[in-house]
Amino acid sequence: MSEAARLKAEGRDLVDFGAGEPDFATPENITAAGIAALAAHNTKYTPTAGTAALRAAIAAAHRRDFGSDYAADDVLVTSGGKHGLFNAISSLVDDGDEVILPAPYWVSFRDQIRYVGATPVLVEAGEAAGFSLSLAAIERALTPRTRAILLNSPNNPSGAVLPPELFRAVLALCREHRLWLLSDECYARLVYDARPYSVGAEPGARERAIICGSLSKTYAMTGWRIGYVLAPPAARAAMLALQSHSTGNATTFAQAGAVEALSGPQDAVVAMLAAYRERRGLIVAGLNALPGVSCQLPAGAFYAWANVSGALTRLGMSTANELAQKLLREAGVVTVPGEVFGGPAHLRFSYAAAPEVIAAGLQRLRTVLH
Ligand SMILES: Cc1ncc(COP(=O)(O)O)c(C=O)c1O
Repeated sequence: MSEAARLKAEGRDLVDFGAGEPDFATPENITAAGIAALAAHNTKYTPTAGTAALRAAIAAAHRRDFGSDYAADDVLVTSGGKHGLFNAISSLVDDGDEVILPAPYWVSFRDQIRYVGATPVLVEAGEAAGFSLSLAAIERALTPRTRAILLNSPNNPSGAVLPPELFRAVLALCREHRLWLLSDECYARLVYDARPYSVGAEPGARERAIICGSLSKTYAMTGWRIGYVLAPPAARAAMLALQSHSTGNATTFAQAGAVEALSGPQDAVVAMLAAYRERRGLIVAGLNALPGVSCQLPAGAFYAWANVSGALTRLGMSTANELAQKLLREAGVVTVPGEVFGGPAHLRFSYAAAPEVIAAGLQRLRTVLH
């Protein structure tokens, strides 16, 4: 049990900036569709790749949201986005291969790559460049063992949104060197200024890109465990075989809820994004007002990735982990230390929390850091 979970179990009043999930309930129309499916006894196996209705809904929603041209047959429904990534990495990356991975990264990327015996080759997405990447840095990391390049935009933990030009250039690189472009689009609809973008809509992407998507964050459906992969036929067949002999289909009545999420009204997504925007302003301003803390405005997702190196120096600490422990013990504030994401000068604050919770958390931080 983590220390935060232990303190919570002891009844300690915590402000939790740690959880990487929406604080909103799943929208009612989606819940109703899941309940209706259960009431209609939709509780048997479905095809391993998912119901025809959900695969069609995923292809149609991807076209609506990103302008792509996938068909239902390109879709594999998975038990969450993490499962889709696992299928992709397990099927397409071998022992001894290398996968280029921008840092900071979501920790499961690194561990899934290692799990198959491959090596994550880190490329820094530096703060000075707004946590974006240069093509040159990616090119420098290429070796004869490179098998795939994994991009995640908006990024967890930095919230950075990569420009379409970079995606296009990386796609061209992947085509030239016959590499896979693994694109994690878990937060792709949660962008504040840019238009939602998917490399899957680019010409030639359907042969080289593996798109891993999820309903978890966009629709506040983390516990439903519905994600998907869009992939070319041979790659999809390999993932389907793995899934067929491991997890089988995603939960049947959750798939029915997912059809409603993707095909029904999208106003809840718009409303949640508006709420995240307001919270983003609140937390970023509050963090920047703390001594020794600086935080860029994230362009997407719901994470503030705060540079705490000044605070570490002031407090005579050497790691973000130590600071996270101090904030937890002395202020009851839960954060995630940057070491976990390959960014040891930072703390990640999830702002998927009500404005009054954010305000209370900032007040507590002031008492410890001032
Ligand atoms: C970058 C990224 N990708 C994928 C996921 C997977 O989400 P899920 O498995 O709930 O769909 C997460 C969840 O935190 C994430 O942050």
